[in-house]
Amino acid sequence: MEEAPPIVHGQRGDEDGDSGIGDIDSSSESDSTSVRSNTKDYVEENGRLYHADWIDGKYLLPNDEREQRRLNSQHDFLFDGNSLHKAPLQGLLNVLDVGTGTGRWAMAFADAYPDAEVTAVDISPNLMPIWPPTNCKFLVDDAEHFGGIGNKEYNYIHVRLLHGFRNPARFFRHAWEALLPGGYIEIAEFELPLKFHDQEKARDSALMTWSANVIEGASRLGIDLTIAEKISTLLKDRGFEGIEESISAWPIGAWPKKNERKELGVRLQEYWMETLTAFAWRPLREMDWHNEETQCLLAKMRTEICGKNIRASMHVRTFWARKP
Ligand SMILES: C[S@@+](CC[C@H](N)C(=O)[O-])C[C@H]1O[C@@H](n2cnc3c(N)ncnc32)[C@H](O)[C@@H]1O
Repeated sequence: MEEAPPIVHGQRGDEDGDSGIGDIDSSSESDSTSVRSNTKDYVEENGRLYHADWIDGKYLLPNDEREQRRLNSQHDFLFDGNSLHKAPLQGLLNVLDVGTGTGRWAMAFADAYPDAEVTAVDISPNLMPIWPPTNCKFLVDDAEHFGGIGNKEYNYIHVRLLHGFRNPARFFRHAWEALLPGGYIEIAEFELPLKFHDQEKARDSALMTWSANVIEGASRLGIDLTIAEKISTLLKDRGFEGIEESISAWPIGAWPKKNERKELGVRLQEYWMETLTAFAWRPLREMDWHNEETQCLLAKMRTEICGKNIRASMHVRTFWARKP
């Protein structure tokens, strides 16, 4: 079996990538060599940087500048022009944005509601902005542990495309505890598997292969990428009331017949390529795919996304509910 390239652990800011890198760790479960630093701020693989816990599969996507660009374009493409919230919010707000990423939503909300206090948390500090609005503060924390965040009470908890629930029931319990009575939670997630308009035609497609294997690989890492279909039940089981849902469908490629949708599909081509690539590496590694196999799949996906034969869509499902 061909050996995968080394995984380099380092600390952001090491310009030559040299300082801080310590001993070779041969205990890694993979067939690759792992070079660990004392600080373990990030890992590098296939030219991308990831949160240090990537190796354990805690969060799958990168956290480098390229990912920052993807998250910002995602905010522009998928959410700009839409309201910042679907939950019916009233009064002065203490707001928590969980898994804030580059913080585009949190900052836009803080600007739109100057009387609100927005707390934005993420496990990755390096995605966070340098100059947030004064009523918006950024904290490094793990949503599934909640730590000090649980000590404060919020009117509104917002979670958009976290893609990383390992123990969703625990997360919803913490969210419940952190909400004031009458407070709202709102959560948006991709719906996986991908939707195909002609399942039979798509059966051997790269997009179908991506969908099945990424879900299975993530699941082996303890991450449920099919969470969207379970959110409503999780909210209900936790005791939330007035659960509502909206679904938006995004074409992956230029296949739609209607002009408006086709233009959207074309505009989103690059975004989907970036997004599906960002998701692919860690789960496919868990499925014992060689890097070359992953590269090959990504190349085939590019052809499908640029062509019109495979009519695939991503649904974004948004739920909101009230704590009684
Ligand atoms: C795809 S990004 C979405 C960012 C942002 N919500 C948006 O819509 O632009 C997901 C973010 O969730 C963060 N994340 C994943 N698991 C997390 C956890 N357990 N606790 C806190 N943040 C987490 C990741 O670091 C990443 O920045």
